[in-house]
Amino acid sequence: MKILHITPELAPWSKAGGLGDATIALSKALAAQGHEVRVVTPLYGSVPGRENMGTLLDVLKVGVHGNPAKAACRVRSLAISSGLEAWFTEHEDYYGGREIYPTREDVGERAAFYGRAALDICLNTGWTPDIIHCHDWTAGLVPVLLNTVVKGTPLGKCASVMTIHNLQHQGLMSRRVMGFLGLPEHLWSPLELECLGGLNFLKGGILHATRVITVSPTYAREILTPEFGYGLDDVVRRRQPELEGILNGVDSDEWNPSTDPYLKKNYSTKDLGGKSACKAELQRELGLATDLKTPLIAVISRLWEQKGLDLAVRVLPKFLRAGQIQFVLLGSGDAQLENEFRRLAADFPERCAVRIGYDNGLSHRIEAGADFFLMPSRFEPCGLNQLYSMAYGTLPIVRATGGLADTVKHWSRTTAQGTGIVFQHADVSGIDWAIQQALELFARPADFQSVQLQAMQQEFSWAKSSDGHLSCYRKALTQRLAG
Ligand code: ADP
Ligand code: GLC
Repeated sequence: MKILHITPELAPWSKAGGLGDATIALSKALAAQGHEVRVVTPLYGSVPGRENMGTLLDVLKVGVHGNPAKAACRVRSLAISSGLEAWFTEHEDYYGGREIYPTREDVGERAAFYGRAALDICLNTGWTPDIIHCHDWTAGLVPVLLNTVVKGTPLGKCASVMTIHNLQHQGLMSRRVMGFLGLPEHLWSPLELECLGGLNFLKGGILHATRVITVSPTYAREILTPEFGYGLDDVVRRRQPELEGILNGVDSDEWNPSTDPYLKKNYSTKDLGGKSACKAELQRELGLATDLKTPLIAVISRLWEQKGLDLAVRVLPKFLRAGQIQFVLLGSGDAQLENEFRRLAADFPERCAVRIGYDNGLSHRIEAGADFFLMPSRFEPCGLNQLYSMAYGTLPIVRATGGLADTVKHWSRTTAQGTGIVFQHADVSGIDWAIQQALELFARPADFQSVQLQAMQQEFSWAKSSDGHLSCYRKALTQRLAG
C-alpha cells in the first residue's frame, strides 16, 4: 500500500508529547512490512539540522486563496528507512519559529496550509497514496478537502483515516480558513464544520474521514460520552460504525533497558541488578539521598489538567513527610503547577527532586532508576510512559482510564499477578489509596520483583499496532470503493 501520514509532530525532529513518538514509530513499522510510506510534517525552526535537511523534492505553489506571495513552499525529502521518507514543508513565515504550537493570530491558516501542501505534493509529483492518514486537529481539514476541493483529482479516490490522539485539542479557528482553502459555503453549518461560532478542524476530520481511529479501545468508548467528548461526543457517535481503538506501542530501539545508551548500567529480565545501579545513579544526579530501600516514585509529563498532577501535588507531602517515598518529576506546562512542584522540592530537598523543562536523556534515566511511575490522568487517550515504564520494570500507578486501563493490570495481593497499580477515581483519595498499595507491594520484595518481571514481559509492539492499522486501512479502502 502507499500510505501518506500528515502530522504536526515527528520525533526526533519535532515532539511536544507522545504524538511525535507515535507517528515515527507507526511509519517505520508500516515501512518495515513492505509498504511505501511518506510523512508530511512542517520544518519548524527548532528542527535540528534544518538548513541541510535532506534533498529538495519540490517547490510548490500551494492551492490556497490567501496572499499569493505566501503560497510558495519548498519541500525537503529525507529518507529515513527503506520505504519511508519524510517530506518537510518549509515556509519561513508559517513554520520558521521554534514552537510547534505557537500562539499567533493565523494559527488556523498555518495548520490548513501544510495540510493542503501535503495534497499538492502528491498532485505535483504524481505519487498517489491509497491511504491518507491524518493525525490530530492540525490535519483535520484534509479529509474535508478530499471530499470537496480536490474530489475531481486523482486524490479524490484516496481513503482517509483520522486518528484522534487527544479530543481536547480540536482547533477551533476563524471561519476565514474556509475561504483560505476554498471550501464550499454549505459546510458552514452546525451539522458540518461550524462549532460555537468557529470552524472546528477536528470535527471536520471526524465527519469526513473514511474511518476514525483513537489510540486505545477504552478511549474509543469513552469519547462517545459527554464526560470525555469535549463537546464532540455527538459528532463521534455519528461515526461510531467507522470508529475503532488501536493501541500505540513501544519503539524498542528507543526504549529498551538492555541497550539504552543513556543508562549507567543496562539490565534485562535475566538480571535486574543494573536497575539498582540506575536508581543510585539517578539519586546522585538529582541530589537525593542515596537510598535503595525507599521506593522512588517518578513523573515525566506535560503539566496539564489532563494529567491530574494538580491532585498528586496535594497527596505527595504526606508520604514525603513520613519519609515513606522519594519523588522525582520532570515536566513543564502550567506555570502555577510548575511552582507548586518547585515548592515541594524545596520543602523536601533530600527526598524530592523537580526538574522543570524537557530532557530526553534524563527521561530515560528516570524510567530506569524509579521504582514506580505515577500517571493519575483525568483522561488518557493511550499514554506511552506507562508502556515505557513497564518495559523498564518500573511499575505504573495509573488511573483506570483510556489506554492506561487497557495496558496496566492491577496487582493482586492474593496471586501476585499484575503489572502495576490501578485506581478508579481521579481524586485525592484515589491517588492516596494507590500510593499506599504501591508501598505495600514494595514492602514484599518477592512479589514486587515478580510484578516487575511480569511488566517487563508485556508485549506492546508497534508491529502489532501496525497490523491493526493495516486492517483498518483495508476496511477504509473497501468503504471508499463502495462509496
Ligand atoms: P502526551 O502525549 O499526552 O504528553 P504520552 O504518555 O503519550 O503523553 O507521551 C509523552 C511523551 O513525552 C513521552 O515520550 C515522554 O517521555 C515525553 N515527555 C513528556 N514530558 C517530557 C519532558 N519534560 N522531558 C522529556 N520527555 C518528556
Ligand atoms: C496524545 C495523548 C496520549 C497519547 C499520545 C500518542 O498526546 O494525550 O495519551 O499516548 O497522543 O498517541
